[in-house]
Amino acid sequence: MEKKITVLPGDGIGPEIVASAVRVLQAIGKRYKHDFQLAYAAIGGAAIDQFNNPLPEETIETCKQSDAILLGAVGGPKWDNNPPELRPEKGLLQIRKTFDLFANLRPVKAFPNLLDSSPLKREVAENVDLLIDRELTGGIYFGEKKRTENEASDLNYYSRAEIERIVENAFELARLRRGKLCSVDKANVLETSRLWRQIVEEKKEKYPDVEVEHNLVDSVAMKLITNPGHYDVVVTDNMFGDILSDEASVITGSLGVLPSASIRGDSFGLYEPIHGSAPDIAGLGIANPAATILSVAMMLQYSFGMKEEAAEIERAVNAVFEDGYFTADLAKDKENALTTDEWTDKVIAEIDTNFVADSIMESYI
Ligand code: IPM
Ligand code: MN
Repeated sequence: MEKKITVLPGDGIGPEIVASAVRVLQAIGKRYKHDFQLAYAAIGGAAIDQFNNPLPEETIETCKQSDAILLGAVGGPKWDNNPPELRPEKGLLQIRKTFDLFANLRPVKAFPNLLDSSPLKREVAENVDLLIDRELTGGIYFGEKKRTENEASDLNYYSRAEIERIVENAFELARLRRGKLCSVDKANVLETSRLWRQIVEEKKEKYPDVEVEHNLVDSVAMKLITNPGHYDVVVTDNMFGDILSDEASVITGSLGVLPSASIRGDSFGLYEPIHGSAPDIAGLGIANPAATILSVAMMLQYSFGMKEEAAEIERAVNAVFEDGYFTADLAKDKENALTTDEWTDKVIAEIDTNFVADSIMESYI
């Protein structure tokens, strides 16, 4: 297959982790005989420095001509005092909105060999296998903003259509998984949440095979720590999803291993790690590339329908963890931590070895 991918390295550790993920993508391309054509473009702080715009028109054009987008991370102290329009984060919000990527899928699954790094007890963390389905193009992130010297407000607006499509998406995802859906809101206080809850109730008639519960966000924040194994698909609005996904991510041991997919119902999508640009370790070559590598796996699965290739990346990442290789964020003994590149080499070697083993088997059949 031939696929065009726009690569947006961004800021901080973005360029390093994206370089790793691209190497893994090319290794998969070689093994499975796919032609992945890459076009690089600027976003975030890097784009502000170069074009005085966090999402330049050229970048949007390049993305439009591609089948999927791979993004590193945006942001950093250099741009912290910029006006709102010239903040790196604005580029990220705008690209999500421009391409109508309303569903942000954030899977949280325990890797057995990382459980010692989880802040939770092993027996609590080991059963985690949940998927946060975060609404990504509406809510308080995009509502009208006002600011005077002494007052400020952000409008939390949702239309029925915006809620319906994310809720339907979540029901479909639940169907493909364990058939459980938890809708998270703050319906005891917020009108947007009451409409949200009503729409979930309406939609559930269409999905009798899915078991639905409604839960208040404060209570879910607690239960994600006490009993995270309870959850299968969790659907929620933009703001709650942002907060809960960072919380859920550390259950697995590191924020550095969680991927995400932002999709809109066709095959186009944007794939990025859920973590940020980690400016404190940028340029040191020690960042964990796992989340970005796993984001490539999500791209292969959701945008290109390459299930086997995606599974191979996940298998290789898990195998490298099982062999006891870690980057500095996860290594128990920091002296033995691998660099970003060394850890990536291990993943690629794992893919290559598996492929050689397969070819040997085939030659006997
Ligand atoms: C995320 C990030 C972004 C968000 C920021 C960088 C704008 O935290 O992808 O979770 O809040 O959506
Ligand atoms: Mn976030």
